[in-house]
Parts: sequence; C-alpha cells; structure tokens
Amino acid sequence: MRVRMGDEVVEMRSVEYEDGTVKMIDQRVLPEEIRIFRADTLKKVAYAIREMVVRGAPAIGIAAAYGMAGAYERGEDLYEARDSLARTRPTAHDLFYALDRMLEAYKAGRDVVEEAIRYADEIVERCRKIGEAGEPLIEDGYRILTHCNAGALAVADWGTALAPMRMAHRNGRRIFVWVDETRPRLQGARLTAWELLQEGIDHAVIADNAAGFFMRRGEVDLVIVGADRIAANGDVANKIGTYEKAVVAHENGIPFYVAAPVSTFDLHLKSGEEIPIEERSEDEVLEVRGRRVAPLGSHARNPAFDVTPAKYITGIITEMGIIKPGEVRRVVE
Ligand code: MRU
Repeated sequence: MRVRMGDEVVEMRSVEYEDGTVKMIDQRVLPEEIRIFRADTLKKVAYAIREMVVRGAPAIGIAAAYGMAGAYERGEDLYEARDSLARTRPTAHDLFYALDRMLEAYKAGRDVVEEAIRYADEIVERCRKIGEAGEPLIEDGYRILTHCNAGALAVADWGTALAPMRMAHRNGRRIFVWVDETRPRLQGARLTAWELLQEGIDHAVIADNAAGFFMRRGEVDLVIVGADRIAANGDVANKIGTYEKAVVAHENGIPFYVAAPVSTFDLHLKSGEEIPIEERSEDEVLEVRGRRVAPLGSHARNPAFDVTPAKYITGIITEMGIIKPGEVRRVVE
C-alpha cells in the first residue's frame, strides 16, 4: 500500500516478518503517527492482536501466521503457540484458518517460516483479485459507503472492501467514499480516511448515525463492507453497525456488497447465529480515545461485531468472482 512520508511515497505492507519478529504498523496510533510495533515473542504477538495493534480479519490471520513462524524459529511448542494465539480474539475466522494452516504445515514437516510468508503473499494476491472482481461494480461518479476499515491496513495490502475502490480510482474513475466513523474504536475516521488520503481518493467521514440520512437522500450509490466471518448460508459477521447499514440500504434499494477472501468463510457454521461475537471492554464506549465522556457510575455494553442476514446482501465479492450469499457452500468449498 502507498504511504506518504513527507515528500516520499513508500510502498509497504501493514504486517511484515523479519528474523523471527512480526513488524506491524501500530493501528492504535494512526493517523497521528506511523509507528512500527515489533513483536519478537509470542506473548507480544498475542498482545498485538488482542489490543488491536493489528486488526482486521485477514491482517490478524497474517500476524498469527507470522507469530507461529517466530515460535518455530525459536524452537517453541507450536501446539501451545496455536492455543495462546487462538485465545486472543474470537470472531475473525482468518485467525483460526491461518493457525490451523501453520500447524498442518508443521505436522507435515514443512518449514513454517516459508509457509507463513507464502500465506501472507496468497492473502494479498486474493485481495488484489477481489479488487479486480469488484471494480466493475463501480461506475464513474459513484458515491460508495463503507463501514469500519476493510483496507490495506486490515489485510497487509489492497484491502477487501477498499480493493475495488482502489482499482477503480487507479483506472481513472471518479469516485467518492462515505466513511462511517465506526464507534467505538473509530476505525473509519482514523484508518479508512487515512488510507483514502494516501491514495488521493475523495471522501467524507460521517457520524455512524448519518448513513441513513445520506442513503434516503439518494446520495449513496453502493455500499461495500468487509467481513470477519461468513457462515455457510451467507450470513456475515462484520463490525458492529454493519447490520443496520444493510437494512437501511435494502429499504432504499441500494446494492449492499460484502468483500472477503476464502479465509473468512467458515463452512462449519450453518448460519450467522453460530458465529461467536466478541464483547470488548466497556471503557471503549464510556471513553473516546482514552477520555471519559459518560458519567462515572454509568455502565456500557460493547459487542464488537454484528451479523447481517444473507437476505440483505446483494453479493459477496471474492477472489473467485462475485457470488450470491446462497452460493457460498457451492463456490467456496
Ligand atoms: O475489530 P476490528 O477492527 O478487527 O474489526 C474489523 C472489521 O470488522 C473489518 O470490517 C473486517 O475485519 C474486514 S477487514 C478486511
């Protein structure tokens, strides 16, 4: 992905691996600062995933794969490494997909470092293909709404929901992106807006509760979001607030697409009802960027994801093309 540093434009990935260390752009401090977090122990990798130094389903998977690679290089027990990384965040399927793949490689006597590097390259390539598959949906002049951050930061490069937008823009189409701020962690306002700025894509950040206003006024042509886990029936878990955007898009006749690589699909789950939903600390809701806004004594609830039923989803943009939610089992298996 393109990162502007002063006058220079640097190509980099948000998660990388070097000599046993997982290097991640620290997503907690963007956009104020581009800081690299170095995890040279398994404990630090687990911390980085749990505390959202690295976040976004495919990026979590890549960080976990690299974490396994580091543990392998240090001669640690990979079964224990798998279990400790699996306990970090429960919803994104990519985490478990990547961990299982590294363990399978280890059991088969293959080099886990090479496997992790191959895994990251594959996911990035799959997301580039998602960009190619989704780009034709975007016509010149389109205004596209997205929620949370499903960009290069959330993958390593390209992104999922942002990949078609990146490609349309690079191919000369004029596009405009509505960026939901995405409380409580503000991944839209802080991360998606930052990525769009790096690419020079025109956009506006809106309060989460403003999306319906713009949809009803006919100012949204298309919605594209990412996913954390997709069940066999096409139900999609994604950042909290996605469900209501899908319902309002449906009500207003606006196409609603989900973009995700194969690592996000969990065909063991029949429907979205079975997807485990992470509930995070109430402080994330009671505070804004570390500063308390609710009165002392008030409590909060903080589900990090919700499930959008397949009936509200126009299509799922995958590396194999655009599919209908009802086709998940046939196409992805
Ligand atoms: O809690 P987060 O920031 O990890 O949640 C991320 C999302 O919900 C993204 O939309 C999803 O992982 C898709 S990332 C390409």
